[in-house]
Order: sequence, then structure tokens, then C-alpha cells
Amino acid sequence: MNSVLIGFGASLPKKRILNTELSPDLNTSDEWITRRTGIKQRYIASESETTSSLAVEAAKNALKHAKISADDIDLVVVATVTGDYTFPATATIVQRELGIKHGAAFDISAACSGFVYALDIVDSYIKTGKFKCALIIGAETFSRIVDWKDRSTCVLFGDGAGAVVVQAQETSLGVQYCKIRSAGEFIDSLKTSGGISTTQTSGVTMMEGREVFRFAIEKMNEALQQLLLDNNLSVEDIDLLVPHQANSRIIDKIIEESGITKEKVVVTLNKHANTSAASIPLALNEVKDELFKKKNVVLLSMGAGFTWGAALIKFSNNISGR
Ligand code: ACO
Repeated sequence: MNSVLIGFGASLPKKRILNTELSPDLNTSDEWITRRTGIKQRYIASESETTSSLAVEAAKNALKHAKISADDIDLVVVATVTGDYTFPATATIVQRELGIKHGAAFDISAACSGFVYALDIVDSYIKTGKFKCALIIGAETFSRIVDWKDRSTCVLFGDGAGAVVVQAQETSLGVQYCKIRSAGEFIDSLKTSGGISTTQTSGVTMMEGREVFRFAIEKMNEALQQLLLDNNLSVEDIDLLVPHQANSRIIDKIIEESGITKEKVVVTLNKHANTSAASIPLALNEVKDELFKKKNVVLLSMGAGFTWGAALIKFSNNISGR
């Protein structure tokens, strides 16, 4: 049994903020943000938009794209570090809003690597036959946990949600490989200033940008090389690479070091900024029309922890239900 990705959906807050619309008090500029990161705009949730409301809309769009109903879903996994409540899990709110009365729902926390971590979990469940059809949603309202006075972090992040329907199918297509890693000795390089058990607040995002930058390039490249080796592929065999969307200079370095053709690399950070766990599924949604024409699609992630991971997914026009 393989885990086949059959539907993609997304949701963005209504409000879009261009670099030029950021507060003058931040003492930043469109020129600096574009040159150092590639980001041109981000979407910011209003008070009435929450991680769960974005997740639900993304999920509905993914179900529509997959042409299946919510009743077919027996597992909902939301990757997020900005859930609606401390508990219950945002995934259970999604389950309620979609009217799903069976199966299970839970959240996972791996920051920007959340989607690849969730895919690994869901793939394992599907391969063991425990669940038949899952919704994986990366959803964040990161704007709620950045310090809007700190120009070195707040300009980098945005809000949004991306969802994917993953179905068990008797096929050689779908998830071929998924490998997750973490290195806890680096927790202080990227974290919030507080938490429930320490300060009873969520805290705000603190990042040693240069350290994260270096580590992201090194580990995403390493993960890519390992994926190629483990699957007996060369970089030319990759048809599409969907990396975590944090900084275009990180992506450019991965292109340079791996030798992959630039046109095969999906870049959406100019539109969405860094949406943490939502970044990869949002990017997948952007290219959903071409995905089924591709053979080998690679996902690469890197986030706080540090956490990182890589996945290889085989697509085809012949995927059942497409
Ligand atoms: N506007 C103008 N100037 C700025 C801004 C800004 N928004 N931010 C920082 N600067 C200034 C700094 O104050 C500094 O000035 P100084 O030289 O006078 O001290 C100068 O720009 C350079 O600052 P650096 O921090 O060294 O800038 P750098 O080129 O390293 O870029 C950045 C910073 C964009 C954060 C980069 O390091 C980066 O992308 N890091 C990786 C982020 C990432 O990948 N995150 C992924 C995981 S996120 C997650 O898991 C939640």
C-alpha cells in the first residue's frame, strides 16, 4: 500500500501587506527585504481569521480538488506551532468543522519542518494499513508570534494554510521515501521567548538569522544528497523540487550546490513570505496543475529545533481518481 497525494488546497488571509506597506517605524525597506530575502509581500490574519479557519478552508479546497468528501477522511493531521488553543488540537477543530465523525485528529509541532514530519507520520500509518485517507494541513498564524518591533524577524513571516489529501492506493506511485531529522542542541538558535510551561505566554520569535541560514543550506543539501543516494537517483532525475520557503538566497545556494536546474525549483516566498509549516503545502498548491505531469517530486524542509527532512513523491497522469 502506498500513500498517494490526490488533492491540494490552500487558504490565505484576506489582508496582503506589501514590503512598501510595512510600518515606517520598522526602519526597513522594500530594497533590503527583496535583496536579502526575495520576499515582496505576506498575508496577515485579521482577528476573525485563525489557524483553524485557514486550515478548514484549505482542507475544503483540497477535498474539492481530490473530488472526495470529508466522510472519506479517517485521519486529520495539522502541522502548526500557532494552534488556536493550547488544547485541544487544531486538527480536532478541523475535524468538527468538516463534520467528520470517525477516525482521529491531532497536531504535530516541528516548526517549518512540520509538513514533512506530518507526511512521514501519515505515510507510516497508511503503509501499515491503520488509516486509509488522510488530510495533512500545514497552517500557521505566525504574525501572532512575531515581535512587530523587531525588523530582523517580523518582515520574514506570513500567515496561511496548505492542505493535501493522502489516500492509500495499491500502486507503485506516491510517497517513495521520507526521512526526518532533528538536532536539539540548536534549540536556542530559533525559538520563542516564552511558552506555556515557562512564562505562561506564547512568547515571540527570536532567531539567530545567520546561524539558521548556514544550517538550512547545509542540512537541506545533505538531506537532498542522501535522498538521491538512497533512491539511486541523480539530480537530473528530479522533475520538481519544493523547498521550504524562507529565503531566496537559501534556495539559490541549494540550486548552486546541488546543480539542479533552476526552472525545476518552486519558489513562492515572494508571495507568501515564510509561512512555517504551511510553506511547502502552499507551494504544492501553487503548482498543482503541473504536479500530475511530473514523475519525481522532492520536498525539502528545515525549521526550528533544528528539524529538517526530505521526501520523494512519484506522480503520474495515471493516478487513480485524477
Ligand atoms: N531591514 C533593514 N535592515 C535590516 C533588517 C530589515 N528588515 N533586518 C536586519 N537588518 C540589518 C541588521 O540590523 C544588520 O545591520 P548592521 O550590519 O548595521 O548590524 C544588517 O541588516 C545585516 O543583518 P543580518 O542579520 O546579518 O542579515 P542577513 O543578511 O543575515 O539576513 C536573514 C538576515 C534574512 C534573517 C537571514 O539570516 C535568513 O534568512 N536566515 C534564515 C531564516 C530561515 O531560514 N528561517 C527558517 C526557519 S524559520 C522557522 O522554523 C520558524
